[in-house]
Amino acid sequence: MNDSRTVGPASALRGMVRVPGDKSASHRALMLSAMADGESTIVGLSPGLDVQSTAVIIEQLGAQRSVSGETVAVVGPADGLRPSGAALDCGNSGTTMRLLAGIVSGVAGTHTLVGDASLSKRPMDRVAQPLTLMGAGVMGQGERVTAPLTIEGTASLRGIEFHVPVASAQVKSAILLAATQATGHTVVIEDIRTRSTTEDMLRHAGLTVHSVEHGDGRTVTLTPGRPSPMTWHIPGDPSQAAFFAVLGAVHPDAVVEVEAIDTAPERIGFVAVLERMGAVLSLRTGGPGSSLRSESSNLVATEIFASEIPSVDEVPALTVAAAAAKGVSAFRAMGELRVKESDRFSGCLELAAALGCRAWSEGDDFFVEGVGSARSFQPFSLGASLDHRMVMASAIAGAAGSGCTIRGAETVTSSYPRFFDDLASLQ
Ligand code: S3P
Repeated sequence: MNDSRTVGPASALRGMVRVPGDKSASHRALMLSAMADGESTIVGLSPGLDVQSTAVIIEQLGAQRSVSGETVAVVGPADGLRPSGAALDCGNSGTTMRLLAGIVSGVAGTHTLVGDASLSKRPMDRVAQPLTLMGAGVMGQGERVTAPLTIEGTASLRGIEFHVPVASAQVKSAILLAATQATGHTVVIEDIRTRSTTEDMLRHAGLTVHSVEHGDGRTVTLTPGRPSPMTWHIPGDPSQAAFFAVLGAVHPDAVVEVEAIDTAPERIGFVAVLERMGAVLSLRTGGPGSSLRSESSNLVATEIFASEIPSVDEVPALTVAAAAAKGVSAFRAMGELRVKESDRFSGCLELAAALGCRAWSEGDDFFVEGVGSARSFQPFSLGASLDHRMVMASAIAGAAGSGCTIRGAETVTSSYPRFFDDLASLQ
């Protein structure tokens, strides 16, 4: 571990990239297939280690899995999932730990969930609270209920009505996955609409799930039931496409395209942000052929609200855009960045400063004064702190600017093992 990787400045960037299968849809396809009675097929699963953690765990819980080329077959046990004698290792993956907590809450017996050093610092109280209300026992470390977690699952979960206090698709999903196994309806209310991957896929698998939008939020009502076995086709991951969109926009001689991505509204908020900054993007939506093209642009600063990009996954990439822009960009209400794979709030400030920008924070807002062009970025060296998105953000800044060295770059494998190959293919 702790590989250093050097990225040189790229003189010109041309070409097309196919990003990995969407990480969110990949986890859920494995999980719903394991919960179903019979054989499901998944095409285009993410090859990242996060999704691999979920794949290993569903086998520990009694599902069977076989891989043939791009296709994964999963057979869910007829009599349902069962506890594993061994710990369930979620690795670096918050989605695995939080969604799995919801699933095993409904599987009678004791479950132990562990993670790596990064995941073991992340708050699990946000799922422990609603799952406890539903009747599960969720024990963790300290006030924020960090991993290792011990979950006492029960076959008699109760449906609840729950107002999610933070904008979190993982919390909403943990509740909904537990709710499939409960008695009575569950209602989940969110103030900011987060990705609807779980609701959409549960509906697709035959469950009754109603969603009503109100203001910026949404209320989801679920009737319990078992998902049916399905064939799942996983679209490309738009949060990975964001790195190439920013790279194309900030590099002085670039035309890059990302093909076949998911274009759900909660996932592509970054496109509107970049367009507001003056990026020349073209998003072709509809059907499996949705693609995003990005070319060299002169960017200007903007104000970015967390609610425009729920889950704030694209903020590290947008920090690079802000660093290359003219003027001061404001990133508003970004507190959730502090509890991602690393403290990305500090990480984004550190990255912007390393590029030569003035960067500062006030409460949950942070500000970046761009240097006006990526060619004015300083060469830099940064530690990735077990955070795949900080690796990729650093790499595009180095390629568009004056090069960089990234310590701990191997952590990119948690979501995008071929990232550096795809980046090199554009040069
Ligand atoms: C995810 C939800 C997001 C996001 C993560 C994937 C999901 O986290 O950051 O990469 O698949 O549900 P939140 O729970 O903070 O929305």
